[in-house]
Amino acid sequence: MKQAEYLMENEAEADRLEIKTRRSVVERHARWAGLLPGMRVADIGCGPGMTTHILQQMVQPGGQTVGVDFSGIRIARAKSRYRESGISFYCMDVHDDLSMLGTFDMVWVRFLLEYQRSRSFEIVRRLERLLRPGGILCLIDLDQNCLNHYDVPPRLARTLYGLMDHLARHNDFDPEAGRKLYTYLYDLGFENIDVHMEPHHLIFGEIGDVDYFNWEKKVATAGRNSGYPFAEYKGVFEAFYLEFKEFFTSPRRFTYTPVICCRGRKPQPEQNPSFSPIPAPA
Ligand SMILES: C[S@@+](CC[C@H](N)C(=O)[O-])C[C@H]1O[C@@H](n2cnc3c(N)ncnc32)[C@H](O)[C@@H]1O
Repeated sequence: MKQAEYLMENEAEADRLEIKTRRSVVERHARWAGLLPGMRVADIGCGPGMTTHILQQMVQPGGQTVGVDFSGIRIARAKSRYRESGISFYCMDVHDDLSMLGTFDMVWVRFLLEYQRSRSFEIVRRLERLLRPGGILCLIDLDQNCLNHYDVPPRLARTLYGLMDHLARHNDFDPEAGRKLYTYLYDLGFENIDVHMEPHHLIFGEIGDVDYFNWEKKVATAGRNSGYPFAEYKGVFEAFYLEFKEFFTSPRRFTYTPVICCRGRKPQPEQNPSFSPIPAPA
């Protein structure tokens, strides 16, 4: 039942997540965040476990990785695919008490908060408790997701903006998740905060297979699961979808989406050098 709450739920979601994950990007971002061999890492909202597996390889020798996702299907796939020692997967909701997982040197949260608009800060606050003092929280999300295209026909543009607005209001989706990450860490008192931004999608000219598969699934799944009325297309989702595909497969189209990575260190408890315990009475 909980899986129905995930906007992108469909039978091909594990495939989509694997196909669009670029190992070199995950490695670069994890290195930038401060991931080192020997660390214990939590991958929260890990999907089918591919990112967990990449992080696990990066923390060798001696490190451990724990993947958490509320989808039984994706966790089952992760467990069957990634069996190396030191990696483990748990089917849990991020809103549950995760303290049984222990504490971590790094908590990695990629592309989760955008599906949790109303509770994203609350999630970050709770994940902070999983970190040891001095541990690193790395939050990664898209900004202006699905909103940056040119040259979109007017009816399609109205519908795309209308759909994204509907998703934000009714489906707890956050097209502006990325820009919030820095302030979340700032408000929680994190130290050594740093931010990195780059294009996650940068699409012009002929569409590649991976981008086509990803966007086709994105628009079809989010559109169908949204309950948006598609009034501009007389309520016929397929008519919208056809026009979107026509636009998106044209080599004239330009599309981009920024990804924002934000990392910070959980403060060490205050050290007060002048503190001296009161001696016990003789
Ligand atoms: C877009 S995928 C990201 C997967 C992976 N982090 C990556 O970078 O490819 C989002 C994942 O978050 C999971 N998810 C969404 N809401 C969740 C929740 N409340 N608790 C646990 N997992 C959740 C979904 O099941 C999905 O697998």
